[in-house]
Amino acid sequence: MKWTLHRLLEICLLALVFSCGSNVPEKKFKIGFSQCTGGDAWRKEMLSSMERELEFHPGMELEYRDAANSNITQIEDIEELLLNGIDLLIVSPNESDPISPVIEKVFKMNIPVIVVDRRTSSSLYSAFIGADNYEIGKLAGRYIASILNGHGKIVEMWGLRGSSPAIDRHKGFIEVIQEYPGISVVKEIDGKWEVDTAKVQMDRAIRTLEPFDLVFAHNDIMAYGAHLVCNAYDANTQVRFVGIDGLPGPGAGIQFVSDHILDATFLYPTGGKEAILLAARIMNRQNFEKENILYSVTIDQKNVRVMKAQTEIILSQQKDIQLQYGKINEQIRIYQNQRNLIYLLLFSLMIAIIAGSRAFFAWREKKEMNFRLNKKKDEILIQRDRIQEMASRAETETQQKLKFFTDISHELRTPLTLILDPIEELLQAEKNTPPNKENLKLAKKNALRLLNLVNQLMDFRKIDNQKMIIQVSENDIVLFIREIMSDFEKIAKRRRIDFRLITELKKLNIWFDRDKIDKVIFNLLSNAFKFTSDDGYIYIKLSSFDAEGHAVLSIEDNGKGMSEDNVKHLFERFFSGDGFANTGTGLGLALCKEYLELHHSNISVSSEPFKGTRFRFMLKLGTSHFKDTEFDEAKTEFQEHTDHSLLLDESEIPSDFEPDAIDEQKEFSVLLIDDSKELRDHLGHRLKRDYQIIEAADGLIGLQKAFDDVPDLVICDVILPGKGGFEVARTLRNDLRTSHIPIIMLTAKTSFDERIEGLHSGVDAYVTKPFVFNYLNERIKALIQNRILLRQHYIHDLGVETGSKTRGGLDKKFVISFMSIVEANLSNSDFNMDEIVKGLGMSRVQVYRKVRALLGTSVNDYIINVRIKTAKYLLANTDKSIAEIAYEVGFSSPAYFSSSFRAKIDLSPSEFKASKTAQS
Ligand code: FRU
Repeated sequence: MKWTLHRLLEICLLALVFSCGSNVPEKKFKIGFSQCTGGDAWRKEMLSSMERELEFHPGMELEYRDAANSNITQIEDIEELLLNGIDLLIVSPNESDPISPVIEKVFKMNIPVIVVDRRTSSSLYSAFIGADNYEIGKLAGRYIASILNGHGKIVEMWGLRGSSPAIDRHKGFIEVIQEYPGISVVKEIDGKWEVDTAKVQMDRAIRTLEPFDLVFAHNDIMAYGAHLVCNAYDANTQVRFVGIDGLPGPGAGIQFVSDHILDATFLYPTGGKEAILLAARIMNRQNFEKENILYSVTIDQKNVRVMKAQTEIILSQQKDIQLQYGKINEQIRIYQNQRNLIYLLLFSLMIAIIAGSRAFFAWREKKEMNFRLNKKKDEILIQRDRIQEMASRAETETQQKLKFFTDISHELRTPLTLILDPIEELLQAEKNTPPNKENLKLAKKNALRLLNLVNQLMDFRKIDNQKMIIQVSENDIVLFIREIMSDFEKIAKRRRIDFRLITELKKLNIWFDRDKIDKVIFNLLSNAFKFTSDDGYIYIKLSSFDAEGHAVLSIEDNGKGMSEDNVKHLFERFFSGDGFANTGTGLGLALCKEYLELHHSNISVSSEPFKGTRFRFMLKLGTSHFKDTEFDEAKTEFQEHTDHSLLLDESEIPSDFEPDAIDEQKEFSVLLIDDSKELRDHLGHRLKRDYQIIEAADGLIGLQKAFDDVPDLVICDVILPGKGGFEVARTLRNDLRTSHIPIIMLTAKTSFDERIEGLHSGVDAYVTKPFVFNYLNERIKALIQNRILLRQHYIHDLGVETGSKTRGGLDKKFVISFMSIVEANLSNSDFNMDEIVKGLGMSRVQVYRKVRALLGTSVNDYIINVRIKTAKYLLANTDKSIAEIAYEVGFSSPAYFSSSFRAKIDLSPSEFKASKTAQS
């Protein structure tokens, strides 16, 4: 918004500045003026009067050429003016004939031509301005005849013979003179319009001339020249002189008359001003006259004073005007300078306003920005305070929780010990049956694991509170490693894992805390065994570098490996990683790192998925890095090896009670899907008395087994590697082959949302860990019982209704499809399982199991039942023969029908028919 305003302001200012300077330049018309000569006063006056007039026509400019009485020069001048792009030509031709062609050429080029004073010999021009020389000639003739009283001798001084004024003046003069027989022209002299020529020619002629009375010169300056010559020749001469032009000012016609040099002169206006006025009309496309004749007047002793006075006034006025022009021009110049200055000032003002407005807007924006920033800052500060407060509250709460957790953990130790003791006692008892012993071992192992977890938690607490101290003693590390390895030998052998210590050292004494380093090595080995598959390798490498003063220990395997991301976080507390790096509680490796740090050592890991993992750490030699308080004097003598066998992960423990192979004798089968082998073993062991047990370690295997074996019930853990429990449930429920199977979900989590999700996935029961076996068993029984009831419902519906209370849409669909296939083949004695399997798109086993589960009968029995039922209806309600009915209901022979009928009803078909007829 503000920038739009800003721009608008700029545009207005710019418009103002440019409008100030908008003296829209008119198109200037270029007028070419070709003068035959510029050397005499008359011609100079013509040019001055043109220039004076031009002052009033700023749209016109004059390009002037002086031909200096030369025809050739004048032709060249006009050509040059043409090239310069003139819009109009004013020309006073030197002589008519030589100049006419070039004037015609200009006219034909549609450039207007104004001819002044002297005429051309053609009519191809736009306009003519000048006095009528013939009339002037006549005027002069009459005047001369009158002053000579009709008698006298005249010398005629000619202008240029080829120029029209000379010709016309002579013509008019002679015409009048001829009327006076007493007057004669005794001599014609060529003065060529010039004073000097006139003087020379007069001087030459006067010597041979008889006395004469008057010189008539075609212009005043030639008359003056003749006067000078005659006076020089005879100071008392009585010769009279008459000229033409009547120019005001000193050394010109009026002055000559006033000084009695000339008897008279005849006004011959230059027409300069008129030529410019006419040019303006032509340029402005106004009407104009082609012939513009200027008037003449006689100036002699009678009117010369008035004329002189008038012309002097005019001259002085012209001077004034000139002066005024000068002043006006000066004013204009000053005005223009001032105007330019004002424009400059305006421009500067505009720049200043723009800069000012920009600065203002920038300042305002900055102010707003600052305001916003301050507001943001305040908000951030408030948020920071809030976060700090929350963080400190969270910290306090965490500390309280941790304390509570630790206290609880601590409290767990006593009951765990009290559990472990009696178990140990019971284990020692001789009367143990093998299953009892296994149960006790399982209880002991899990109690120990729990104790181990509690201890780990307590250790973390100690580390956090800087209360964890190490108690180092000197030990042979080689022997120490071998002792720990011994606990894994059995598993390694069973799983054919190449498990060895690779070292050149026979013995190496190092100071370390036996308990902590034992935990480190045991933890790393447990992980290695957990993630290395059968027939793989696990190597412990030990070397010592005396130079650096430490031993390097590495544990390498060619197991599953880990992703880069898992490696990055592996030693972080509670990090449990994904499949490859799932190390359980996320405590073990974090503790290893802490224990090693207490030994001033670091642990590193390198791993690659599907290739293997290598852990590496160092133990410093010597004792200088330990504090005095860290030495355990008591332990230096004899160290007992920690027994880990009971802590080893279940998957590494050879189990003595693998579930039995599928026992076909059991009526119902249960599929157990759980990644914990221990749990599967335990549950399997308990359930195998009543059910045939099928096991799966993850969701995908579980689904496969469910589809293959179609169990009567599925027990599934919620958290499974790969496909989760809910996904497994959903898949089973949505598949025709397994949709009927009841599902029990086992989980350690108890959130309400999960229960809802469980319901959505079609889970039938939800058993929360830890659970009492009997409770689970009851749930299993109840669900199987429900299934039997449901089956009775289907049986009840058999062939009659489709029912609306059936459990699942898919199961109903299955039953309907199955029954329709059977009904459609009722009379088909070759009807067999193949057609049902094909019709339902399921395997034989699946159909068999599903029919058994839903209808509680074998497929064959069901078909026979339907046939017998239909036969019963036909026997009771139709007159068809037994043989007919036998074939109609799909028996291959009446005899087979009769025996099957009797087997089901205890009556032969004919006995049944007879009994029905009797009833009705
Ligand atoms: C000036 C002039 C005038 C004369 C005119 C005729 O050059 O000689 O004196 O009247 O030319 O064209």
